[in-house]
Amino acid sequence: MRVLTGIQPSGDLHIGNYFGSIKQMVEAQEKSETFAFIANYHAMTSGGKDLSKLTMQCATDFLALGIDPKKSVFWVQSDVKEVLELYWVLSSFTPMGLLERAHSYKDKTAKGIGANHSLFSYPVLMAADILIFNSNVVPVGKDQIQHVEIARDIAIKFNNQYGDILTIPEFRVQEEVQTVPGIDGQKMSKSYKNVVNIFGDEKSQLKTIKKIVTENVAVEEPKEYESCNVYNMAKLFLQGDSLIELQERYKRGGEGHGHFKIYLADIMWEYFREFREKREYYEAHQDEVREILSIGAAKAKEVALPTIEKIRTLTGIRY
Ligand code: ADP
Ligand code: TRP
Repeated sequence: MRVLTGIQPSGDLHIGNYFGSIKQMVEAQEKSETFAFIANYHAMTSGGKDLSKLTMQCATDFLALGIDPKKSVFWVQSDVKEVLELYWVLSSFTPMGLLERAHSYKDKTAKGIGANHSLFSYPVLMAADILIFNSNVVPVGKDQIQHVEIARDIAIKFNNQYGDILTIPEFRVQEEVQTVPGIDGQKMSKSYKNVVNIFGDEKSQLKTIKKIVTENVAVEEPKEYESCNVYNMAKLFLQGDSLIELQERYKRGGEGHGHFKIYLADIMWEYFREFREKREYYEAHQDEVREILSIGAAKAKEVALPTIEKIRTLTGIRY
């Protein structure tokens, strides 16, 4: 079974990204054949500012957080240009209505983000990403389900004309993954400016954590932990006795939220220590990162080529 994930290189990663998606991706490498790529073409649809820098940052972050090039095929989308060819072929199998109904396009235009063609045809490129590698499963956040459904629709239309050529993919949503709260208690998201970054320096991380919104309760009073934003973040890093111990500290009273914030900053710093060290290594060895990506692209190409070759013949592009 082949599992494929596309990652948009969109800047500093936060702990919501880690617990909501990256951790699962890293764990999936142990169980299935994993294909993971940096969707730099897709990132162009939202402006593409600093794209080259962000692509390298994304590669560095994901390698540090556990994408293992020995277990996964890991590459940059634009290094396998065959997807662009398939994208064009698939465009001829994509009814306008299918794209006009896409939520992500509708939402962005509703927000007044000027629509261009790449934003509109984004799902067709995503379909090409998925279909060129014969992917079976595509793990996605809820916002991306429709895009995988579009890929399925396009594949079925293509297969109706040419036979059983493209693998029909399934999406997989991690229902059990909880939403990580931001420092204001809303869903943590870059767009809400309420994030705690994974790779910030210690001082600024503590500064951010100190801004977490908490109830106003006197130090000596017992405190609610279930509804506390600090606790809800801390529990991501704790298990078993340490979690119970933290609950006890809330119930006992005698400590203010400031104490719990310092504790959270400490356990978080400790949790990401190993990842940080790995990141520092890759940051200092960017050539090694480029080499990993280039080996990944070669492996990905080996899988993409037979698909596109078959399609060139079937469609008559090859003459
Ligand atoms: P952002 O909202 O900060 O722009 P993205 O949309 O780039 O984040 O999210 C990338 C991945 O991280 C997605 O799979 C998404 O489901 C996951 N993710 C983002 N924020 C959270 C959160 N607060 N809790 C759980 N998962 C999250
Ligand atoms: N659209 C996806 C996102 O924004 C990224 C992506 C591009 C992708 N191509 C893909 C995800 C193929 C899965 C499969 O998160």
